[in-house]
Amino acid sequence: MGSPGARTTGFSLPVRGFTGRETKATPTPLSEPRRLRIIGRLSPTATILQQLASACADDTFVRLTLSSPRDADADVQRIVARLVEIQGARCLSFTLREPKRDTTHNVSLADAPAFVERQLRSFRAAMLATTAADWQLQLGDGDGAGKLIRHKPSHKAKPARAHDESKKTFLGADATPWLQALDLVDQQGRTKPKLADKKTQIDRFVEILAHLAQDCGWQPGADQPTLRLVDVGCGKGHLTFAAWHLVANVLRRPVDALGVEVRHELVEQANARAAAVGAQGLRFVAGDIGTVPLPDVDALVALHACNTATDIAIRRGVAARARLIVVAPCCHQEVRPQLGSPAPLGPVLRHGFMAERMAEWATDGLRALALEWAGYRTKVIEFVSSEHTGKNVMIAGVRDDAPRTDAQRAEARARYDAFKAFFGIGAQSLDPLFADATR
Ligand SMILES: C[S@@+](CC[C@H](N)C(=O)[O-])C[C@H]1O[C@@H](n2cnc3c(N)ncnc32)[C@H](O)[C@@H]1O
Repeated sequence: MGSPGARTTGFSLPVRGFTGRETKATPTPLSEPRRLRIIGRLSPTATILQQLASACADDTFVRLTLSSPRDADADVQRIVARLVEIQGARCLSFTLREPKRDTTHNVSLADAPAFVERQLRSFRAAMLATTAADWQLQLGDGDGAGKLIRHKPSHKAKPARAHDESKKTFLGADATPWLQALDLVDQQGRTKPKLADKKTQIDRFVEILAHLAQDCGWQPGADQPTLRLVDVGCGKGHLTFAAWHLVANVLRRPVDALGVEVRHELVEQANARAAAVGAQGLRFVAGDIGTVPLPDVDALVALHACNTATDIAIRRGVAARARLIVVAPCCHQEVRPQLGSPAPLGPVLRHGFMAERMAEWATDGLRALALEWAGYRTKVIEFVSSEHTGKNVMIAGVRDDAPRTDAQRAEARARYDAFKAFFGIGAQSLDPLFADATR
């Protein structure tokens, strides 16, 4: 174990390929970044990461918990990791606990110490339980190395390693017929490897939608009113089926789900699939996001609608007074050519890639601000992990019916305008939203 007093210079990442043995640090060549150098013995953080790697390797791992977030208002309040086996390969399954939801990241054993090291920057404490010993890491508030205490093991036996996927998914057996119709799973209900990313996306979408349904106060039960969902730019309808499934099969409520897609052949195909699996209350129409007549809407969804189609979808959702609006933007092209170089960002934004990222960030920021102006409580979250898709931002707004004063609305508008002005953004497809001064 590393001595608490050991000196390090910000030990960072040399944790891959740990053998589990504690080693004296080897001096690194001067050309290596300073943060990678270790002087003396391993720091407490490095030691617990080493113990983590060896506990996974020798199968003595029980549980890892990160707690005491440095920022009391942080989204993630706690992280718990389990060692699981998925499709024959072991990984650490991290559950990131937020006040209203959990998200899971399965990380390979090789990458796990680096993942933990990154997460540890946001926490003050960690406890690694193994069947050999418990390791308690205390990091405190300052820049100090912290303290690592070894305790007797609190667990003598290791937990089962099987990964119980059915517990975490809303896509139970009653999802199999439509997942098969969409060719996502085989006859045995196993995910087709080529479409694993899409399946992960669907799974995650249903999970998020279930939480948002709670935020909207949508109770389960056949005696509840019909929930009216519209998915614009729905493509083959994967996520329309998924939203329909949540309401029809999980909440077990009457549902009227409509997928809107400009390509007729996809609409025909989707309607045929819905009919084939007897998906009552699910239908698809050919139409344009901007002009398709919309019925009264409880939830409007637009996932990966190209460029400004996302803005048009937001406007349609607001105009239809949808209680819930969920968008996952696709490509962003409108803001990029307008993006200025406000100080001190200029030297960074001269890199095209960084400007591209900033334009995406600014576009999605504006979308969130516009929704807030329109009276929606808004969240911007990671939709699916970037290992599955690069298009992984989701903006979700739940309409708040609490009355707002003119001053509050003016403030919300001023925030939007100031943001645009900062980046030198002129016209934007969300702007017409503000023309409706009665909202
Ligand atoms: C990238 S796909 C996303 C499909 C689906 N929402 C998903 O996430 O799996 C975008 C879809 O939007 C459709 N689309 C693009 N512009 C549209 C518009 N103005 N009106 C309706 N559909 C549109 C495209 O034909 C395409 O099928």
